[in-house]
Amino acid sequence: MSLLKKFKRSFSKKVTQKNWPGLIEAYREWLPVSDKTPVISLQEGSTPLIPIKSISKRINKKVEVYVKYDGLNPTGSFKDRGMTMAMSKAKEKGCEAVICASTGNTSAAAAAYASRGGMKSFVLIPDGYVAHGKLAQALVYGAEVLSIKGNFDKALEIVQEISNKYPITLVNSTNPYRLHGQKTAAFEIIDFLGEAPDWLCIPMGNAGNISAYWMGFKEYFEANQSKILPRMMGFQASGSAPLILNKRIENPNTIATAIRIGNPVNKEKAIKAKNESNGSFMDVSDEEIIEAYKILGKEEGIFCEPASAASVAGLLKRKDEVPENSKIVCVLTGNGLKDPDCALKNNDAIFHNQLEPEVSNIVKAMNL
Ligand code: F0G
Repeated sequence: MSLLKKFKRSFSKKVTQKNWPGLIEAYREWLPVSDKTPVISLQEGSTPLIPIKSISKRINKKVEVYVKYDGLNPTGSFKDRGMTMAMSKAKEKGCEAVICASTGNTSAAAAAYASRGGMKSFVLIPDGYVAHGKLAQALVYGAEVLSIKGNFDKALEIVQEISNKYPITLVNSTNPYRLHGQKTAAFEIIDFLGEAPDWLCIPMGNAGNISAYWMGFKEYFEANQSKILPRMMGFQASGSAPLILNKRIENPNTIATAIRIGNPVNKEKAIKAKNESNGSFMDVSDEEIIEAYKILGKEEGIFCEPASAASVAGLLKRKDEVPENSKIVCVLTGNGLKDPDCALKNNDAIFHNQLEPEVSNIVKAMNL
């Protein structure tokens, strides 16, 4: 029996949002925690798996496409799954301060969970390349923000060195607890569908999340919670595609700033996930990303950030290879509200600006 089912039973009433305890409690036996671990949680996890007809229709072949909308986590991205684990384990060790490099979402989540656990957070970000919503979060959640004249890869090198020399815990995805937390998204997908999907489409930046999902799918498979394993289909933005070009990219660039990464620290793990799952990696252009971003918003009412739309853009790009009658999950890693500047520049909406406030005038503008 899956853990979620056991958990549902133990509550003797239906699991509702009201009694979802956060992912550490929901999946405790699958995670490296003990009674001594102080659980730092914002009740993350249990995000919806939403069927996306507009994408299924474009592929045809009777496929069912779903999105795992992880942008509905407490700080608006999948990073919360990793942070609840990383921070709880840091607190267990007596740590007082944490540090990370970030393209934005890690810093928001680190700041929130550190504050919740009574720890200090330092976040290094690439100056000018962090979406405004994410920067606002880090500031409001009380992080000390250090913006560097350099990209994410440089920032990560610096925080790795600092955490080796000083008593500050690194909470980037090199921290193994992060991946344990993030693997629970794979559990949730299987608990919901009753089986693993045929394909998992996922954006890749530092390549931690694809590695975490693969760990989760394998653990459930080995414990007989699922009968199949998905093919791991990873996608990067064309201007930041070290895993597709198989080399470090010195000056990565893409509209999807979350995945503007040239030297993924989890490269080996991601390649292993690809090889073991008979998966495949591909790049998608910024234009393809924005097309998927607009379809999700306009046809489905789902607002994700551009990096997340890379998973759907990738699926559309590979639609000829999709097997008949298959189930596919695309991971939407972050909320669209994180990056309002991108949204304002990339939409097809009609926006009448600066109208005189009179009914006749408004009706005229509406073309009634
Ligand atoms: N999608 C979003 C919205 C992200 O923020 C990230 C990574 C990814 C996808 C890629 O995940 O690195 O595990 O392959 N963001 C990190 C950050 C780098 O600093 O917020 P990954």
